[in-house]
Amino acid sequence: MPEDRPPLAGRRVAVIGAGYVGLPTALALDRFGHSVMICDRDDERLSHLRRGLSPILETGLEELLGEALHRGQFRTTPRAAEAVVGAEFVFLCVDTPPAKDGSADLSFITAVAEEIAPHLERGAVVVNKSTVPLGTAELVEGLIGRGDVDVVSNPEFLREGSAVANSLRPDRIVVGAKDLTVAQRVAALFEQTGSPVVLTDRRSSELIKYAANAFLATKLSFVNSLASMCEAVGADARDLARGIGYDRRIGPDFLQPGPGWGGACLPKDATALVAMAAAAGVEVDVVRAALSSNDSQRDRVVEKIRVAAGGDLRDHTVAVLGLTFKSNTDDRRNSPATAITRKLIERGARVRAHDPTVKAAGEAPPDLQQVTVCEDPYEALAGAEVVVILTEWPLFRELDYRAVRDLVARPVVVDTRNLLDGDLLRSLGFTYFGAGH
Ligand code: UDX
Repeated sequence: MPEDRPPLAGRRVAVIGAGYVGLPTALALDRFGHSVMICDRDDERLSHLRRGLSPILETGLEELLGEALHRGQFRTTPRAAEAVVGAEFVFLCVDTPPAKDGSADLSFITAVAEEIAPHLERGAVVVNKSTVPLGTAELVEGLIGRGDVDVVSNPEFLREGSAVANSLRPDRIVVGAKDLTVAQRVAALFEQTGSPVVLTDRRSSELIKYAANAFLATKLSFVNSLASMCEAVGADARDLARGIGYDRRIGPDFLQPGPGWGGACLPKDATALVAMAAAAGVEVDVVRAALSSNDSQRDRVVEKIRVAAGGDLRDHTVAVLGLTFKSNTDDRRNSPATAITRKLIERGARVRAHDPTVKAAGEAPPDLQQVTVCEDPYEALAGAEVVVILTEWPLFRELDYRAVRDLVARPVVVDTRNLLDGDLLRSLGFTYFGAGH
């Protein structure tokens, strides 16, 4: 072990951005024994944090926050310039939303880089954790413009809903730096995780993030296409998943068919990868196909609902269960469930919907104004001519389907997530359509 190796804990860390990435990252770093200052320009968010309340729905986050507040090393500030004073490592975890042309809008990153530049400690390391296009580490380095400060890339691979578990035990840690010893110092912050470490250059590190998400997206489009094929030829996608998943080269995860893949990352990153490759003169047509297959998937689901509704959606009542892009999150960004709901409305259906994270009636978000959002799932099901499961919330499995059968107008269920027990439903008199069987 080199003599000058820093101790595993006790580093002074600033985290800029207290969102889906910054908050779990900051709390994990606190748990690893570092002293963390988190910064967010949203004061209300910070005052929530100081009171031990998580501003986002994320399993285990409030417990971790409570522990951090109890240990007393975790501090907050609304000013980035103040957060970086005394910090050896500064994590940039701010939003990089898609701009109108689909490219990442880096204005938050560039604004923060300019703001903190004069206040950074000599020898500080700035760590890009936000998902950023190739070359952003160089860009930030240029904006900071200080020879005594390093800028590295350390992409996050957090899944919403399990971000705490992913932060405490990541599958791997990737650090891209110009200088190997700087990369090692950043990786050492996470040494307690025991996770495998990949040290590389900055561009490779930035590309790894896009490649991982584009690969997952491609795997899912493959699965969804094969699920449709299973339905057409009388095969079973659930057995197919087991049959191919035991092959270690394929792996058992990410083989569940669904209404299409969504969320804040997979669609954005797969699209960005195709665009960045094209800008470099390379056609990544596999990922392009995965994207277009995902668009078709939503239409395939609407078509399935139309058939289940008896051939026409117009003026038929559809009960939609689930609006978020997956369970255990309140996120509806790029949610297939919400997109399919809107398509049903366009096709003339009357949609009643329930999602445990979406408020009812007058308070329903603007994009759901034409939907009757019900705070009680049974209320959403009343009078339905077809019931559609779009998000795999466990509570939908726990419903009393005997009571549901008496509530609906026609006992027909389209389960796009294979969440329910189809045999049980059939025994209760439902017509049940699973995904890929
Ligand atoms: C993803 C990546 O997993 C994570 O590593 C990255 O950092 C951010 O993007 P997340 O957006 O939280 O995380 O969603 P994820 O759990 O990966 O699911 C993505 C989409 O795929 C969802 O719409 C989900 O419902 C769908 N999915 C996932 C399936 O349809 N079937 C599966 O088997 C798995």
